[in-house]
Amino acid sequence: MTIKDLFTIQKKNEITEGLKLELKGWIVSNRGNEKIRFLTLNDGSSISNLQIVAKGKDIENYSVSNISLGTSVIVSGNIHLTPSAQQPFELVLESLTIINTVDEDFPIQKKETSLEFLREIPHLRNKTNLFKCIMLIRNSLSFEIHKYFQEHNFLYMASPIITSNDGEGAGETLLVDDESKDYFFKQKAFLGVTGQLHAEAYAQSFKKVYTFGPTFRAENSHTSRHLAEFWMIEPEVAFYKLKDIIFLADDLLKTSIRNTIKNFGAEMNYLDSLNPGLLDNLNKFLDNTLTIIEYKDVVEKLKNYTEHFIEKDIHFGMDLASEHEKFLSEQIIKGPVAVINYPKDIKAFYMYQNDDNKTVAAFDLLVPGIGELIGGSQREERYQKLLDRMNELHIPTNPLQWYLDLRRFGYAPTSGFGIGFERLVMYVTGIANIRDVIPFPRVAGQIKM
Ligand code: 4AD
Ligand code: MG
Repeated sequence: MTIKDLFTIQKKNEITEGLKLELKGWIVSNRGNEKIRFLTLNDGSSISNLQIVAKGKDIENYSVSNISLGTSVIVSGNIHLTPSAQQPFELVLESLTIINTVDEDFPIQKKETSLEFLREIPHLRNKTNLFKCIMLIRNSLSFEIHKYFQEHNFLYMASPIITSNDGEGAGETLLVDDESKDYFFKQKAFLGVTGQLHAEAYAQSFKKVYTFGPTFRAENSHTSRHLAEFWMIEPEVAFYKLKDIIFLADDLLKTSIRNTIKNFGAEMNYLDSLNPGLLDNLNKFLDNTLTIIEYKDVVEKLKNYTEHFIEKDIHFGMDLASEHEKFLSEQIIKGPVAVINYPKDIKAFYMYQNDDNKTVAAFDLLVPGIGELIGGSQREERYQKLLDRMNELHIPTNPLQWYLDLRRFGYAPTSGFGIGFERLVMYVTGIANIRDVIPFPRVAGQIKM
């Protein structure tokens, strides 16, 4: 039984006085005197701790007074219900085994330490309350996303991590190999920037597929929302158009967030206490219909607020900067918003070209605090249009002939999107820097461990 289980059965009034338990975990605090001591134990199942009471001779027998924060222990005892106390139950100690003590230079201490300091010790920061919360929420979101897709008949497929394609055509690939003789593949090979193109191939037989894997981009942006290695969730659905895929994105997000808030109440409340309004804003998103707005209308709206921007030249054709995306969702829409039909010149080669010859059937989902959370589109289904666009953009067609060929063999047009998983974790936890929502962040110029 875990500490999370104990709190769950207590809420259902199913916990009993005298319940005998053995628990393994780490000591979080230790206070009291020589007659009575209160230890708190965490076992990683929740940020909720179990209070352990040691009395009289046991304190001496088990050297309880000397146990410091971080010590790993095995404890056993009996549950005592304390309905009028701050914690609804405690464990009355029967025996305690110290597995490993903590050296004096242990950098995690009871007082809160800065996120910058913790970034220097990614192998230890998971022992803080905050990182336990973030990683439990991250895990829940990942579980809920898989669950959603499995319950909606999607095939989970593994797009390759090493690939010979630059799937976005943006030239931001990290190189694995080149044409030289001594290397492994003896041809150009990259770490994948997206699993989309391979997922498109699979959508041509399974109809609804998704990938959920690591992606890699050599973006030289030192921002709070870019990583060189990040995880992306990419569904691809045959016979879906732009509006269908936006509906899917909205429903997937709302379902995963709603279930995470429900199942990780202690963690979400803790995060909300550090960042008041977090839960209110998430609930507002859950309770409201998603706003969908045309890119051209966004441009007109933003023109009224140029005094708020560093980039003041707002015009049709511009790529929205993060400041514009955030302003739109935070100040104008006041919540998440899907922007659709972007100019084709600022979007990827594979997107469906609209009849106006200027825009593509794409959408970005923008959220407060972050900006772009999702990018997606209906895919160009016409062989010749796709080929012409690749040529216009000087994208080598040879490595992507297979992708073009999909359009010749019973092709059913598809649509899909990519959720930046770390950005989703930022949105749900309210954490401002993407380096703090992934266990071991990799960014330009820095790779620890
Ligand atoms: O908008 P992007 O580039 O879209 C694609 O990769 C498409 N192939 C997806 C698809 O249609 N299947 O990236 C998708 C999302 C972005 O919206 C953003 O949330 C995240 O991935 N992302 C990053 N997250 C962290 N660090 C980076 N360097 C990121 N680049 C993109
Ligand atoms: Mg994008």
